[in-house]
Amino acid sequence: MLMILKEDMTVVAQRKIAPDIFEMVLTGEMVSEMQAGQFLHLRVPDSSKLLRRPISISEIDKLKKEATIVYRIEGEGTAVFSQLKSGDVVDCLGPQGNGFDLSVIGAGQAALLIGGGIGVPPLVETAKQLHDKGVAVTCVIGFANKEAVILEEKLRRYSDVIVTTDDGSYGIHGYVSTVIDGFDTVADAVYACGAPGMLKYVDSKFENHPHAYLSTESRMACGMGACYACVVHLKGQEDSKNLRVCEDGPVFKTGQIILD
Ligand SMILES: Cc1cc2nc3c(=O)[nH]c(=O)nc-3n(C[C@H](O)[C@H](O)[C@H](O)COP(=O)(O)OP(=O)(O)OC[C@H]3O[C@@H](n4cnc5c(N)ncnc54)[C@H](O)[C@@H]3O)c2cc1C
Ligand code: FES
Repeated sequence: MLMILKEDMTVVAQRKIAPDIFEMVLTGEMVSEMQAGQFLHLRVPDSSKLLRRPISISEIDKLKKEATIVYRIEGEGTAVFSQLKSGDVVDCLGPQGNGFDLSVIGAGQAALLIGGGIGVPPLVETAKQLHDKGVAVTCVIGFANKEAVILEEKLRRYSDVIVTTDDGSYGIHGYVSTVIDGFDTVADAVYACGAPGMLKYVDSKFENHPHAYLSTESRMACGMGACYACVVHLKGQEDSKNLRVCEDGPVFKTGQIILD
């Protein structure tokens, strides 16, 4: 079982990077334990909101003890986060979840990272760590339109990046599948995070790939494996509620779970 820490992390900086999308840098001791693809479970600083909000870790700087998260305002909790300023503290549980398994791939090999919309943030640290160990990284990231494009420049530091937009206002007109279906080689490892429709495409496209991984989302309560609010079902075992997104995930191998 992974060790989950509880800490009041301090906001170092916060800025808006696209309409309704914010990037927040937090500092704390738990940064030293963080891995790519894990998430933080943040308490909303508002006593009427009891449930924490899960947000992926986008970047990790262990030297500075800083972690970056990128989130979109969806409702009241994330709206409160967007008001936080440098010096404010946030009660965080983490780092939670299994994260992406980057050990399956090494120098000289190729990785394909696939992201959609607000699923792109965890790919930044993933691309960085893979690049640092000599993996050739390609990112295919899809957005609704030009205004919604985030993190392209950061990903370009570590990878070749291909952007798609649904309306053709930036990059290639179409979905990530438009690009990926045209590739004539298969990467040694595939890592994906995004909306359910995109994950279903990746799950089916790379169903039998030995190293293809999906980062999933589910509504959560405890976020630490105790309440079973976040269960997903294994394929072929629809009656058994046996995997928890918060503890056994959020990353699963393709072909493993039923995607809603
Ligand atoms: C593992 C994981 C990683 C995530 N990473 C990111 C990220 O990096 N950036 C980002 O913008 N969002 C991310 N999300 C989604 C984010 O948790 C929700 O957008 C957020 O909780 C909404 O809270 P709210 O109070 O603003 O919205 P409300 O709709 O008011 O939330 C009401 C309740 O529903 C839950 N909820 C609502 N939407 C979601 C959702 N999509 N997933 C899980 N719970 C939800 C909330 O936690 C809260 O308990 C992630 C979710 C999971 C499970
Ligand atoms: S949220 Fe409680 S077990 Fe996952």
